[in-house]
Amino acid sequence: MEKIVEVLPSLELLIERSLAIILDRISTAIAERGWCAIALAGGSTPKPLYEAISQQSLPWDKIHVFWGDERYVPEDHPDSNQLMARIAWLNKVPIPATNIHPISTNEADPNVAASKYEQELLEFFQLSSGELPVFDVILLGIGDDGHTASLFPHTAALKVSDRAVTLGNKDGQPRITFTYTLINQARCVMFLVAGSGKRSALAQIFAPVADNFTYPSRLIAPQGTLFWLLDGAAGQELSIESA
Ligand code: 6PG
Repeated sequence: MEKIVEVLPSLELLIERSLAIILDRISTAIAERGWCAIALAGGSTPKPLYEAISQQSLPWDKIHVFWGDERYVPEDHPDSNQLMARIAWLNKVPIPATNIHPISTNEADPNVAASKYEQELLEFFQLSSGELPVFDVILLGIGDDGHTASLFPHTAALKVSDRAVTLGNKDGQPRITFTYTLINQARCVMFLVAGSGKRSALAQIFAPVADNFTYPSRLIAPQGTLFWLLDGAAGQELSIESA
């Protein structure tokens, strides 16, 4: 794993930097394999990045978009990660509908939804059961509590290492999430972190010793390149040496 930590003076510069990295990764993937698979983060931080990507002229037919996690709400619910990305980006570009792979939240049992999304990944990547897909880019954020995707502290999802997708749990609310083992297969994982509210979690995530189940973002160590892109407010007190 190559780990790159950058503190950018502002959110705007963080978004600009993350866009440049993503565009480079997309073009490399397409040059090497003919297509690119990117998994999106939810929450609010990545929204301006998605808006910036929507302004790019890209070979949209060669780009496949997935989600690293989803709240278990209808796709038109204001909390839906799918809805946020469609409004900020996907509705604005001529990407084929079949290239957009949302996590379905229509099943009565969210465990069924997790299994169905895992099956969709296996079929798309032409893998057999037990194999894990390799994404070109997986975007992630962190919560103030140190969670990432929907891998929340001290939840059962953190113990699932033999699957690609599992059930997350945020204060009793079901989520669908990539497992940390799937995330760690990626060629490139990029954390986008902004705001002073993330400082204390970052200190624990970057600490030489801390509990991974308390700070699940510590579980992320991809076989490829790990980018931590922080704005000044989030990265101000971080001792980068420990990074
Ligand atoms: C989600 C996200 C989650 C998010 C962090 C940070 O579904 O909420 O996937 O992991 O990345 O909670 O959220 P903000 O960017 O809003 O701070």
